[in-house]
Amino acid sequence: MLIKQRCRKVVLEDLTGFDNTGNVCLWPSEEVLASYVLKRKDQFCGKAVCELGAGMTGLAGIALAVMGNPLKVLLTDGNEDCVKNMEAVVRQNKSSFGSTIVQSEQVLWEINSDLSHLESQFDFIIGADCLFFNQSHYGLLHVIAVLLKEAGFAVIMAPQRKDTRETFCSKASSQFSVEKIENYDPVVWSQHQAAKNEDPLYDEDIHYPMGKIQTFSHFLIARNPALHDSTKSSKKQVA
Ligand SMILES: C[S@@+](CC[C@H](N)C(=O)[O-])C[C@H]1O[C@@H](n2cnc3c(N)ncnc32)[C@H](O)[C@@H]1O
Repeated sequence: MLIKQRCRKVVLEDLTGFDNTGNVCLWPSEEVLASYVLKRKDQFCGKAVCELGAGMTGLAGIALAVMGNPLKVLLTDGNEDCVKNMEAVVRQNKSSFGSTIVQSEQVLWEINSDLSHLESQFDFIIGADCLFFNQSHYGLLHVIAVLLKEAGFAVIMAPQRKDTRETFCSKASSQFSVEKIENYDPVVWSQHQAAKNEDPLYDEDIHYPMGKIQTFSHFLIARNPALHDSTKSSKKQVA
C-alpha cells in the first residue's frame, strides 16, 4: 500500500480559506482508525464504505480497500487539495484493490450540499479527527444521515479537543443512537493508562503529544434507538 503525503512547506494562503488541516499531516486519529478497521476488516467485507474528512491520504479507507475486500470505498473531503492528493493515492494503489471500487470526491459538510447521488448508499461511514469545529457538527451529522443506509453505522475516531467530541456526541444523540467506546484496543489503552500515570507532560485532551500514544474515543452511531437495540449483536462485533 502506498500513500502520498503533500510535503511542501505551509504558506500563508494555506492558513486562509477552507480548513487546511487535512494537508498539514496525516493525523494520529487517522492511523488509529486505519488500525481499528483493519482489525475488524471482516465486518467491512462486501460493504460500501465512505470516509468523510479523509484528509490528504484517506489512509483508513485505502487500507480497507487494499486489505478488507469491501464492495466500494468512497474517500471524501471538503478541501480540494486533499481530494486531488487522494486521487493520486487511489491511482498509485489501483492494482491492489482487487474488485473493490475506489473513488474520491469532494463532499462538504453542509446542510445544503446536494448529496442525492450518494443518498443511502453506505453501510459504513468512517472518519477521523473531524469534530474539532463545533460549527461543522450539524453539517457533518446531516451528511452522515443522508449517506448512511437505514441499518448503517458510522465509526468516528476523535480526540476530545476541549469539549468538541462531547458536544458532537450530544448533538448526534438527538438523531442517532450513539455508543462511545473508550477502551477499544488493549495496546492503545494500556499505553494510554501508563502515559497518564507516568508522564506529567501527557495531556489526553491535546491532539499531538510529541511522540506519545494519543488517546482516542471512538463511537458508533446508528440511526435510532430501536435499530440500535435490534442490531446490538452486530454492533458488538464491530466494536
Ligand atoms: C484534522 S483533518 C483530519 C484529516 C484526516 N482524517 C486525518 O486524520 O489525517 C480534518 C479534515 O476535515 C476536513 N473538513 C473540515 N471541515 C470540513 C467541511 N465543512 N466539509 C468537509 N470536510 C471538512 C478538512 O479538509 C480536513 O481534511
